[in-house]
Amino acid sequence: MGEGLGLQLMSILLLAGDVTKTGSLLCAGGSIPRPQFTGPNMAYLKSTEMFECKLSRWSSPLTYELIKSPGEVLESIDDPLGGQPVTFTLRVNERSEGQYVCRVRSRGQTSTSDALNLQVVIPVQGVQLVTDPDPPVIYEGSGFTLHCQVKKGTHLAYVWYHNKQELNPPSAFHHLSGNTLTVDRAGEGHAGYYTCMANNKMGNNSRYSSSTEVTVVVKKYLSAPRLSFTLYHHGSGYHANVSCRSARGSPPVTFQLLLDGKEVPVQQTGLLEAWFSLPVSVGLDMGTVQCKAETDIQQLLSDPKDLEVVPVGGTARVLVEYLQTADSVVVAALLQCVITRGTFPLFSWSFNRTILQAEEDSHALTLNGRILVVTAISAGISGSYSCRARDSFNPNSSWVDSEEVLVKMTEVEMTSVEVLAVAFCCFLLVVIVAGACCLYCSINHERYQDSSTGREEDCWEQTNPETGHAMLETGPGPQVEEVEADFMEVEV
Ligand SMILES: *[C@@H]1O[C@H](CO)[C@@H](O)[C@H](O)[C@H]1NC(C)=O
Ligand SMILES: *[C@@H]1O[C@H](CO)[C@@H](O)[C@H](O)[C@H]1NC(C)=O
Repeated sequence: MGEGLGLQLMSILLLAGDVTKTGSLLCAGGSIPRPQFTGPNMAYLKSTEMFECKLSRWSSPLTYELIKSPGEVLESIDDPLGGQPVTFTLRVNERSEGQYVCRVRSRGQTSTSDALNLQVVIPVQGVQLVTDPDPPVIYEGSGFTLHCQVKKGTHLAYVWYHNKQELNPPSAFHHLSGNTLTVDRAGEGHAGYYTCMANNKMGNNSRYSSSTEVTVVVKKYLSAPRLSFTLYHHGSGYHANVSCRSARGSPPVTFQLLLDGKEVPVQQTGLLEAWFSLPVSVGLDMGTVQCKAETDIQQLLSDPKDLEVVPVGGTARVLVEYLQTADSVVVAALLQCVITRGTFPLFSWSFNRTILQAEEDSHALTLNGRILVVTAISAGISGSYSCRARDSFNPNSSWVDSEEVLVKMTEVEMTSVEVLAVAFCCFLLVVIVAGACCLYCSINHERYQDSSTGREEDCWEQTNPETGHAMLETGPGPQVEEVEADFMEVEV
Protein backbone atom coordinates (compact mmCIF):
# COMPACT_ATOMS: atom_id res chain seq x y z
CA MET A 1 0.00 0.00 0.00
CA GLY A 2 2.75 2.57 1.11
CA GLU A 3 4.88 1.50 -1.81
CA GLY A 4 2.00 2.02 -4.21
CA LEU A 5 1.40 5.56 -2.96
CA GLY A 6 5.08 6.48 -3.30
CA LEU A 7 5.10 5.27 -6.91
CA GLN A 8 2.00 7.30 -7.70
CA LEU A 9 3.55 10.48 -6.24
CA MET A 10 6.69 9.94 -8.27
CA SER A 11 4.80 9.52 -11.49
CA ILE A 12 2.87 12.74 -10.78
CA LEU A 13 6.12 14.62 -10.20
CA LEU A 14 7.56 13.25 -13.42
CA LEU A 15 4.42 14.24 -15.26
CA ALA A 16 4.64 17.76 -13.81
CA GLY A 17 8.22 18.00 -15.06
CA ASP A 18 7.00 17.05 -18.53
CA VAL A 19 4.31 19.65 -18.31
CA THR A 20 6.71 22.52 -17.77
CA LYS A 21 8.87 21.29 -20.61
CA THR A 22 6.07 21.12 -23.14
CA GLY A 23 4.39 24.23 -21.78
CA SER A 24 0.92 22.76 -21.56
CA LEU A 25 -1.11 23.26 -18.50
CA LEU A 26 -1.98 20.42 -16.29
CA CYS A 27 -3.39 20.99 -12.88
CA ALA A 28 -3.03 17.53 -11.56
CA GLY A 29 -2.62 17.57 -7.78
CA GLY A 30 -1.40 21.21 -7.34
CA SER A 31 1.01 21.79 -10.23
CA ILE A 32 1.65 25.53 -10.88
CA PRO A 33 -0.71 27.19 -13.34
CA ARG A 34 0.66 29.34 -16.16
CA PRO A 35 1.46 32.86 -14.98
CA GLN A 36 -0.11 35.89 -16.61
CA PHE A 37 2.55 38.13 -18.08
CA THR A 38 1.87 41.65 -19.32
CA GLY A 39 4.08 44.44 -20.55
CA PRO A 40 4.74 46.76 -23.45
CA ASN A 41 5.45 45.53 -26.95
CA MET A 42 7.19 48.74 -27.98
CA ALA A 43 9.46 50.90 -25.89
CA TYR A 44 11.70 53.86 -26.48
CA LEU A 45 15.39 53.38 -26.11
CA LYS A 46 16.59 54.44 -22.62
CA SER A 47 13.09 54.36 -21.21
CA THR A 48 12.17 52.33 -18.14
CA GLU A 49 9.44 49.78 -18.73
CA MET A 50 7.37 47.66 -16.32
CA PHE A 51 6.40 44.04 -16.82
CA GLU A 52 3.90 42.43 -14.53
CA CYS A 53 3.70 38.77 -13.74
CA LYS A 54 0.79 37.30 -11.79
CA LEU A 55 -0.23 33.90 -10.61
CA SER A 56 -3.70 33.77 -9.18
CA ARG A 57 -4.97 31.06 -6.82
CA TRP A 58 -1.62 30.15 -5.36
CA SER A 59 -0.66 30.28 -1.72
CA SER A 60 2.84 28.85 -1.36
CA PRO A 61 6.13 30.74 -1.54
CA LEU A 62 7.15 31.46 -5.13
CA THR A 63 9.99 32.86 -7.15
CA TYR A 64 9.26 34.93 -10.28
CA GLU A 65 11.87 35.32 -12.98
CA LEU A 66 12.03 37.67 -15.95
CA ILE A 67 13.71 35.79 -18.76
CA LYS A 68 14.86 37.12 -22.09
CA SER A 69 14.87 34.36 -24.70
CA PRO A 70 16.77 32.15 -24.95
CA GLY A 71 17.19 31.70 -21.22
CA GLU A 72 18.88 34.81 -19.90
CA VAL A 73 17.46 35.48 -16.43
CA LEU A 74 17.36 39.24 -15.99
CA GLU A 75 15.68 39.56 -12.63
CA SER A 76 14.15 37.30 -10.05
CA ILE A 77 11.74 38.26 -7.27
CA ASP A 78 10.62 36.15 -4.32
CA ASP A 79 7.05 36.12 -3.19
CA PRO A 80 7.06 34.55 0.31
CA LEU A 81 3.29 34.19 0.50
CA GLY A 82 2.40 33.37 -3.08
CA GLY A 83 -0.39 34.80 -5.22
CA GLN A 84 1.00 38.38 -5.16
CA PRO A 85 1.61 40.04 -8.55
CA VAL A 86 5.16 41.19 -9.09
CA THR A 87 6.58 43.96 -11.27
CA PHE A 88 9.84 43.75 -13.16
CA THR A 89 11.61 46.89 -14.20
CA LEU A 90 13.56 47.01 -17.44
CA ARG A 91 15.91 49.77 -18.51
CA VAL A 92 15.60 49.60 -22.29
CA ASN A 93 18.88 49.58 -24.20
CA GLU A 94 19.97 48.66 -27.74
CA ARG A 95 20.01 44.94 -26.89
CA SER A 96 16.60 44.89 -25.23
CA GLU A 97 14.71 43.96 -28.38
CA GLY A 98 13.45 40.36 -28.33
CA GLN A 99 11.16 37.88 -26.60
CA TYR A 100 10.46 37.91 -22.87
CA VAL A 101 8.77 35.35 -20.64
CA CYS A 102 7.98 35.16 -16.96
CA ARG A 103 8.80 31.91 -15.17
CA VAL A 104 7.55 30.92 -11.72
CA ARG A 105 9.18 28.38 -9.49
CA SER A 106 7.88 26.71 -6.41
CA ARG A 107 9.35 23.67 -4.65
CA GLY A 108 11.09 22.33 -7.74
CA GLN A 109 8.12 22.96 -10.08
CA THR A 110 8.21 25.63 -12.79
CA SER A 111 5.69 27.23 -15.08
CA THR A 112 6.37 29.65 -17.93
CA SER A 113 4.13 32.37 -19.33
CA ASP A 114 3.39 33.13 -22.96
CA ALA A 115 6.13 35.13 -24.60
CA LEU A 116 5.97 38.90 -25.13
CA ASN A 117 7.74 40.55 -28.03
CA LEU A 118 9.44 43.82 -27.30
CA GLN A 119 10.50 46.21 -30.02
CA VAL A 120 12.95 48.96 -29.22
CA VAL A 121 12.04 52.28 -30.79
CA ILE A 122 14.62 54.98 -31.30
CA PRO A 123 12.97 58.38 -30.83
CA VAL A 124 12.95 60.53 -33.94
CA GLN A 125 15.46 63.31 -34.09
CA GLY A 126 16.92 65.70 -36.65
CA VAL A 127 14.43 65.72 -39.53
CA GLN A 128 15.70 67.30 -42.68
CA LEU A 129 14.26 67.75 -46.18
CA VAL A 130 16.65 66.80 -48.94
CA THR A 131 15.62 67.89 -52.42
CA ASP A 132 16.44 66.59 -55.84
CA PRO A 133 17.31 68.76 -57.71
CA ASP A 134 19.06 70.92 -55.17
CA PRO A 135 18.17 73.77 -55.03
CA PRO A 136 14.57 72.83 -55.89
CA VAL A 137 14.16 75.21 -58.82
CA ILE A 138 12.64 73.57 -61.88
CA TYR A 139 10.74 74.44 -65.03
CA GLU A 140 7.11 73.46 -65.41
CA GLY A 141 6.70 69.96 -66.77
CA SER A 142 9.78 68.52 -65.13
CA GLY A 143 9.80 66.58 -61.87
CA PHE A 144 11.29 66.82 -58.42
CA THR A 145 11.72 64.62 -55.37
CA LEU A 146 11.80 65.44 -51.68
CA HIS A 147 13.29 63.06 -49.14
CA CYS A 148 12.39 63.32 -45.50
CA GLN A 149 15.61 62.26 -43.80
CA VAL A 150 16.12 61.70 -40.10
CA LYS A 151 19.36 61.69 -38.15
CA LYS A 152 17.94 59.08 -35.77
CA GLY A 153 14.71 57.21 -35.38
CA THR A 154 13.01 53.92 -36.11
CA HIS A 155 9.38 52.86 -36.66
CA LEU A 156 8.63 56.11 -38.42
CA ALA A 157 5.61 57.52 -40.19
CA TYR A 158 5.77 60.66 -42.32
CA VAL A 159 3.39 63.54 -42.74
CA TRP A 160 3.87 66.10 -45.51
CA TYR A 161 2.75 69.69 -45.64
CA HIS A 162 2.46 71.84 -48.75
CA ASN A 163 1.85 75.52 -48.04
CA LYS A 164 0.90 74.53 -44.48
CA GLN A 165 -1.77 72.10 -45.67
CA GLU A 166 -1.37 68.47 -44.86
CA LEU A 167 -1.02 66.32 -47.95
CA ASN A 168 -3.49 63.61 -47.40
CA PRO A 169 -2.92 60.54 -49.54
CA PRO A 170 -4.11 59.23 -51.89
CA SER A 171 -3.13 62.27 -53.91
CA ALA A 172 -2.90 62.28 -57.67
CA PHE A 173 -1.06 65.53 -57.36
CA HIS A 174 1.87 64.34 -55.26
CA HIS A 175 3.11 60.80 -55.01
CA LEU A 176 3.99 59.75 -51.47
CA SER A 177 5.91 56.63 -50.65
CA GLY A 178 7.91 55.91 -47.51
CA ASN A 179 9.90 59.01 -46.71
CA THR A 180 9.76 60.29 -50.28
CA LEU A 181 7.49 62.74 -52.06
CA THR A 182 7.67 62.66 -55.84
CA VAL A 183 6.17 64.90 -58.50
CA ASP A 184 6.65 63.71 -62.05
CA ARG A 185 5.40 66.72 -63.97
CA ALA A 186 5.34 69.86 -61.93
CA GLY A 187 2.89 72.68 -62.59
CA GLU A 188 2.30 75.99 -60.94
CA GLY A 189 0.26 74.26 -58.24
CA HIS A 190 3.27 72.31 -57.03
CA ALA A 191 5.28 75.39 -56.19
CA GLY A 192 5.47 76.61 -52.63
CA TYR A 193 6.62 75.65 -49.18
CA TYR A 194 7.12 72.07 -48.15
CA THR A 195 7.83 70.60 -44.76
CA CYS A 196 7.79 67.05 -43.56
CA MET A 197 7.23 65.67 -40.13
CA ALA A 198 8.42 62.28 -38.97
CA ASN A 199 6.91 60.56 -35.96
CA ASN A 200 7.42 57.27 -34.17
CA LYS A 201 4.44 55.00 -34.60
CA MET A 202 3.71 54.77 -30.87
CA GLY A 203 0.08 55.86 -30.69
CA ASN A 204 -0.47 58.39 -27.92
CA ASN A 205 3.15 58.28 -26.96
CA SER A 206 4.46 59.37 -30.37
CA ARG A 207 7.33 61.77 -30.69
CA TYR A 208 7.48 64.21 -33.57
CA SER A 209 10.14 66.12 -35.37
CA SER A 210 9.66 68.51 -38.28
CA SER A 211 11.95 69.71 -40.98
CA THR A 212 12.49 73.34 -41.80
CA GLU A 213 10.58 74.79 -44.76
CA VAL A 214 11.87 74.20 -48.24
CA THR A 215 10.64 76.39 -51.09
CA VAL A 216 10.04 74.67 -54.40
CA VAL A 217 10.13 77.08 -57.32
CA VAL A 218 8.34 76.03 -60.50
CA LYS A 219 9.39 78.38 -63.26
CA LYS A 220 7.27 79.17 -66.28
CA TYR A 221 8.66 79.05 -69.77
CA LEU A 222 8.93 82.43 -71.37
CA SER A 223 6.48 83.37 -74.10
CA ALA A 224 7.72 85.24 -77.16
CA PRO A 225 7.87 88.97 -76.42
CA ARG A 226 5.53 91.37 -78.16
CA LEU A 227 6.36 94.86 -79.24
CA SER A 228 4.00 97.78 -79.09
CA PHE A 229 4.39 101.48 -78.98
CA THR A 230 2.47 104.41 -77.69
CA LEU A 231 2.83 108.04 -78.58
CA TYR A 232 3.11 110.99 -76.24
CA HIS A 233 3.75 114.68 -76.58
CA HIS A 234 7.02 115.87 -75.15
CA GLY A 235 8.54 119.32 -75.53
CA SER A 236 8.04 120.43 -79.07
CA GLY A 237 7.42 117.04 -80.63
CA TYR A 238 6.26 113.51 -80.20
CA HIS A 239 7.98 110.58 -78.57
CA ALA A 240 7.26 106.94 -79.08
CA ASN A 241 7.34 104.75 -76.01
CA VAL A 242 8.25 101.35 -77.38
CA SER A 243 7.54 98.55 -75.01
CA CYS A 244 8.41 94.91 -75.11
CA ARG A 245 6.45 92.45 -73.04
CA SER A 246 6.25 88.75 -72.50
CA ALA A 247 2.83 87.55 -71.42
CA ARG A 248 4.21 84.77 -69.27
CA GLY A 249 7.49 83.60 -67.90
CA SER A 250 9.39 83.58 -64.64
CA PRO A 251 11.86 86.24 -63.69
CA PRO A 252 14.64 87.07 -64.06
CA VAL A 253 14.12 88.01 -67.72
CA THR A 254 16.54 90.28 -69.51
CA PHE A 255 15.23 92.40 -72.38
CA GLN A 256 17.13 93.94 -75.23
CA LEU A 257 15.69 96.34 -77.77
CA LEU A 258 17.18 96.70 -81.19
CA LEU A 259 16.55 99.71 -83.41
CA ASP A 260 17.68 98.92 -86.94
CA GLY A 261 19.80 96.12 -85.49
CA LYS A 262 21.53 98.36 -82.94
CA GLU A 263 20.99 97.88 -79.25
CA VAL A 264 19.35 100.75 -77.39
CA PRO A 265 19.32 101.20 -73.62
CA VAL A 266 16.06 100.02 -72.10
CA GLN A 267 14.27 100.60 -68.84
CA GLN A 268 12.81 97.54 -67.27
CA THR A 269 9.42 98.00 -65.59
CA GLY A 270 7.97 95.06 -63.81
CA LEU A 271 9.44 91.67 -64.31
CA LEU A 272 8.22 90.90 -67.81
CA GLU A 273 8.31 94.28 -69.51
CA ALA A 274 10.87 96.78 -70.73
CA TRP A 275 10.56 100.02 -72.66
CA PHE A 276 12.50 102.75 -74.26
CA SER A 277 11.45 106.05 -75.67
CA LEU A 278 12.67 108.03 -78.64
CA PRO A 279 11.54 111.08 -80.57
CA VAL A 280 9.48 110.41 -83.69
CA SER A 281 8.26 112.53 -86.55
CA VAL A 282 4.71 111.80 -87.56
CA GLY A 283 4.60 110.38 -91.05
CA LEU A 284 8.26 109.30 -91.12
CA ASP A 285 9.51 105.76 -90.82
CA MET A 286 11.88 105.85 -87.84
CA GLY A 287 13.31 102.42 -88.44
CA THR A 288 12.61 98.85 -87.47
CA VAL A 289 12.43 97.79 -83.84
CA GLN A 290 12.72 94.32 -82.49
CA CYS A 291 13.20 93.01 -79.00
CA LYS A 292 14.80 90.02 -77.42
CA ALA A 293 13.88 88.40 -74.13
CA GLU A 294 16.26 86.09 -72.42
CA THR A 295 16.26 83.77 -69.41
CA ASP A 296 18.84 81.27 -68.23
CA ILE A 297 17.53 78.71 -70.71
CA GLN A 298 15.61 80.62 -73.38
CA GLN A 299 16.22 83.38 -75.87
CA LEU A 300 13.23 84.68 -77.81
CA LEU A 301 12.78 87.40 -80.39
CA SER A 302 9.69 89.47 -81.10
CA ASP A 303 8.42 90.13 -84.60
CA PRO A 304 10.11 93.18 -86.09
CA LYS A 305 7.97 96.27 -86.29
CA ASP A 306 8.22 99.44 -88.27
CA LEU A 307 8.31 102.44 -86.02
CA GLU A 308 6.06 104.74 -87.97
CA VAL A 309 3.09 106.90 -87.08
CA VAL A 310 0.85 107.20 -90.12
CA PRO A 311 -1.56 110.14 -89.86
CA VAL A 312 -5.23 109.49 -90.47
CA GLY A 313 -5.87 110.02 -94.16
CA GLY A 314 -7.63 108.87 -97.31
CA THR A 315 -11.34 108.26 -97.00
CA ALA A 316 -13.73 107.00 -94.37
CA ARG A 317 -16.78 104.85 -94.92
CA VAL A 318 -19.39 103.06 -92.87
CA LEU A 319 -19.96 99.33 -93.17
CA VAL A 320 -23.34 98.19 -91.90
CA GLU A 321 -24.24 94.77 -90.69
CA TYR A 322 -27.71 93.85 -89.52
CA LEU A 323 -28.24 91.31 -86.81
CA GLN A 324 -31.41 89.35 -87.35
CA THR A 325 -33.44 86.83 -85.47
CA ALA A 326 -34.33 83.47 -87.03
CA ASP A 327 -37.48 85.00 -88.55
CA SER A 328 -35.59 87.88 -90.17
CA VAL A 329 -36.47 90.58 -87.69
CA VAL A 330 -33.64 93.08 -87.43
CA VAL A 331 -32.86 93.67 -83.80
CA ALA A 332 -29.55 95.48 -84.02
CA ALA A 333 -27.03 96.89 -86.44
CA LEU A 334 -23.28 96.95 -86.24
CA LEU A 335 -21.74 99.99 -87.87
CA GLN A 336 -18.04 99.96 -88.52
CA CYS A 337 -16.02 103.00 -89.47
CA VAL A 338 -13.35 102.07 -91.98
CA ILE A 339 -10.56 104.49 -92.87
CA THR A 340 -7.83 104.13 -95.47
CA ARG A 341 -4.93 104.78 -93.11
CA GLY A 342 -4.00 106.10 -89.71
CA THR A 343 -2.10 104.47 -86.87
CA PHE A 344 -3.86 106.17 -83.97
CA PRO A 345 -7.31 107.26 -85.10
CA LEU A 346 -10.05 108.77 -82.99
CA PHE A 347 -13.62 108.18 -84.17
CA SER A 348 -16.80 110.12 -83.85
CA TRP A 349 -20.33 109.18 -85.01
CA SER A 350 -23.31 111.24 -86.14
CA PHE A 351 -26.99 110.37 -86.45
CA ASN A 352 -29.21 112.61 -88.60
CA ARG A 353 -26.24 115.03 -88.53
CA THR A 354 -26.15 115.23 -84.77
CA ILE A 355 -23.02 113.98 -83.03
CA LEU A 356 -23.72 110.96 -80.88
CA GLN A 357 -22.53 111.11 -77.31
CA ALA A 358 -20.57 108.20 -75.90
CA GLU A 359 -22.91 105.68 -74.28
CA GLU A 360 -26.66 105.81 -74.40
CA ASP A 361 -29.47 103.27 -74.21
CA SER A 362 -29.85 103.12 -77.96
CA HIS A 363 -26.23 102.56 -78.87
CA ALA A 364 -22.86 101.44 -77.64
CA LEU A 365 -19.32 102.00 -78.86
CA THR A 366 -16.69 99.34 -78.97
CA LEU A 367 -13.14 99.07 -80.24
CA ASN A 368 -12.46 102.61 -79.08
CA GLY A 369 -15.29 103.98 -81.11
CA ARG A 370 -14.53 102.14 -84.31
CA ILE A 371 -17.74 100.11 -84.04
CA LEU A 372 -21.15 101.48 -83.19
CA VAL A 373 -23.85 99.05 -82.08
CA VAL A 374 -27.41 100.34 -82.44
CA THR A 375 -30.27 98.38 -80.98
CA ALA A 376 -33.73 98.38 -82.48
CA ILE A 377 -35.80 98.52 -79.35
CA SER A 378 -35.42 102.22 -78.91
CA ALA A 379 -37.82 104.21 -81.04
CA GLY A 380 -36.57 106.27 -83.96
CA ILE A 381 -33.21 104.82 -84.53
CA SER A 382 -33.76 104.53 -88.25
CA GLY A 383 -32.04 107.38 -89.99
CA SER A 384 -28.72 108.33 -91.48
CA TYR A 385 -25.45 107.60 -89.82
CA SER A 386 -21.96 108.81 -90.60
CA CYS A 387 -18.56 108.60 -89.00
CA ARG A 388 -15.36 110.60 -89.03
CA ALA A 389 -11.83 110.12 -87.81
CA ARG A 390 -8.77 112.19 -86.96
CA ASP A 391 -5.41 111.64 -85.30
CA SER A 392 -6.14 111.08 -81.66
CA PHE A 393 -2.79 112.48 -80.56
CA ASN A 394 -3.38 115.78 -82.31
CA PRO A 395 -6.59 117.72 -81.57
CA ASN A 396 -5.77 120.10 -84.42
CA SER A 397 -5.64 117.44 -87.13
CA SER A 398 -8.41 117.53 -89.70
CA TRP A 399 -11.31 115.11 -89.71
CA VAL A 400 -11.83 112.55 -92.49
CA ASP A 401 -15.59 112.28 -93.01
CA SER A 402 -17.62 109.38 -94.34
CA GLU A 403 -20.75 109.56 -96.49
CA GLU A 404 -24.05 109.18 -94.71
CA VAL A 405 -25.62 105.76 -94.77
CA LEU A 406 -29.27 105.01 -94.22
CA VAL A 407 -29.98 102.47 -91.54
CA LYS A 408 -33.50 101.06 -91.58
CA MET A 409 -34.95 98.85 -88.91
CA THR A 410 -38.00 96.66 -89.51
CA GLU A 411 -40.94 97.90 -87.52
CA VAL A 412 -42.33 95.00 -85.54
CA GLU A 413 -45.00 94.72 -82.96
CA MET A 414 -43.41 93.01 -80.04
CA THR A 415 -44.93 91.68 -76.90
CA SER A 416 -43.26 92.74 -73.70
CA VAL A 417 -41.66 89.32 -73.40
CA GLU A 418 -40.15 89.71 -76.84
CA VAL A 419 -38.95 93.18 -75.96
CA LEU A 420 -37.25 91.76 -72.90
CA ALA A 421 -35.69 88.95 -74.92
CA VAL A 422 -34.40 91.34 -77.53
CA ALA A 423 -33.08 93.68 -74.87
CA PHE A 424 -31.29 90.81 -73.27
CA CYS A 425 -29.85 89.72 -76.62
CA CYS A 426 -28.61 93.20 -77.29
CA PHE A 427 -27.03 93.37 -73.90
CA LEU A 428 -25.36 90.01 -74.50
CA LEU A 429 -24.21 91.18 -77.87
CA VAL A 430 -22.54 94.24 -76.46
CA VAL A 431 -20.88 92.13 -73.79
CA ILE A 432 -19.66 89.63 -76.37
CA VAL A 433 -18.35 92.27 -78.72
CA ALA A 434 -16.63 94.08 -75.87
CA GLY A 435 -15.26 90.79 -74.53
CA ALA A 436 -13.96 89.67 -77.90
CA CYS A 437 -12.46 93.06 -78.33
CA CYS A 438 -10.73 93.03 -74.97
CA LEU A 439 -9.36 89.60 -75.67
CA TYR A 440 -8.15 90.62 -79.09
CA CYS A 441 -6.60 93.74 -77.70
CA SER A 442 -4.88 92.04 -74.82
CA ILE A 443 -3.48 89.49 -77.25
CA ASN A 444 -2.24 92.10 -79.63
CA HIS A 445 -1.30 94.50 -76.90
CA GLU A 446 -0.59 97.40 -79.08
CA ARG A 447 -1.26 100.40 -77.03
CA TYR A 448 -1.50 103.98 -77.70
CA GLN A 449 -1.77 106.57 -75.04
CA ASP A 450 -3.18 109.83 -76.18
CA SER A 451 -1.91 112.60 -73.98
CA SER A 452 -5.10 114.58 -74.41
CA THR A 453 -7.74 111.88 -74.04
CA GLY A 454 -5.83 109.15 -72.23
CA ARG A 455 -7.62 106.57 -74.35
CA GLU A 456 -6.15 103.34 -75.45
CA GLU A 457 -6.00 102.46 -79.08
CA ASP A 458 -4.89 99.30 -80.65
CA CYS A 459 -7.10 96.84 -82.42
CA TRP A 460 -7.31 95.77 -85.99
CA GLU A 461 -4.07 97.24 -87.02
CA GLN A 462 -2.61 95.68 -90.11
CA THR A 463 0.16 96.38 -92.46
CA ASN A 464 -0.99 97.45 -95.87
CA PRO A 465 0.90 95.23 -98.29
CA GLU A 466 1.21 98.06 -100.82
CA THR A 467 2.48 100.83 -98.62
CA GLY A 468 3.79 98.96 -95.61
CA HIS A 469 1.82 101.42 -93.47
CA ALA A 470 0.01 100.58 -90.32
CA MET A 471 -3.63 100.90 -91.16
CA LEU A 472 -7.06 99.77 -90.22
CA GLU A 473 -8.32 96.45 -91.29
CA THR A 474 -11.18 96.70 -93.74
CA GLY A 475 -14.19 94.44 -93.93
CA PRO A 476 -15.95 92.83 -91.05
CA GLY A 477 -13.60 91.80 -88.30
CA PRO A 478 -13.59 88.33 -86.85
CA GLN A 479 -15.49 89.55 -83.81
CA VAL A 480 -18.48 90.58 -85.88
CA GLU A 481 -18.85 87.18 -87.47
CA GLU A 482 -18.55 85.50 -84.14
CA VAL A 483 -21.17 87.71 -82.62
CA GLU A 484 -23.56 87.11 -85.45
CA ALA A 485 -23.22 83.36 -85.14
CA ASP A 486 -23.90 83.57 -81.44
CA PHE A 487 -26.78 85.81 -81.99
CA MET A 488 -28.52 83.73 -84.61
CA GLU A 489 -28.83 80.86 -82.22
CA VAL A 490 -31.08 82.85 -79.96
CA GLU A 491 -34.74 82.11 -80.60
CA VAL A 492 -36.88 85.15 -80.00
C1 LIG B 1 6.42 103.66 -71.33
O1 LIG B 1 5.52 102.57 -71.16
C2 LIG B 1 5.71 101.82 -69.99
C3 LIG B 1 4.69 100.73 -69.99
O2 LIG B 1 4.63 100.08 -71.18
C4 LIG B 1 5.56 102.69 -68.77
O3 LIG B 1 5.79 101.95 -67.62
C5 LIG B 1 6.53 103.85 -68.87
O4 LIG B 1 6.34 104.70 -67.77
C6 LIG B 1 6.31 104.61 -70.16
N1 LIG B 1 7.30 105.66 -70.26
C7 LIG B 1 7.01 106.90 -70.56
C8 LIG B 1 8.15 107.85 -70.65
O5 LIG B 1 5.86 107.25 -70.75
C1 LIG C 1 -33.82 110.79 -88.84
O1 LIG C 1 -34.03 111.05 -90.20
C2 LIG C 1 -34.96 110.22 -90.85
C3 LIG C 1 -35.03 110.59 -92.30
O2 LIG C 1 -33.79 110.91 -92.80
C4 LIG C 1 -36.33 110.34 -90.20
O3 LIG C 1 -37.24 109.44 -90.80
C5 LIG C 1 -36.21 110.03 -88.73
O4 LIG C 1 -37.45 110.24 -88.07
C6 LIG C 1 -35.14 110.89 -88.09
N1 LIG C 1 -35.00 110.48 -86.72
C7 LIG C 1 -34.89 111.30 -85.70
C8 LIG C 1 -34.83 110.69 -84.34
O5 LIG C 1 -34.86 112.47 -85.88
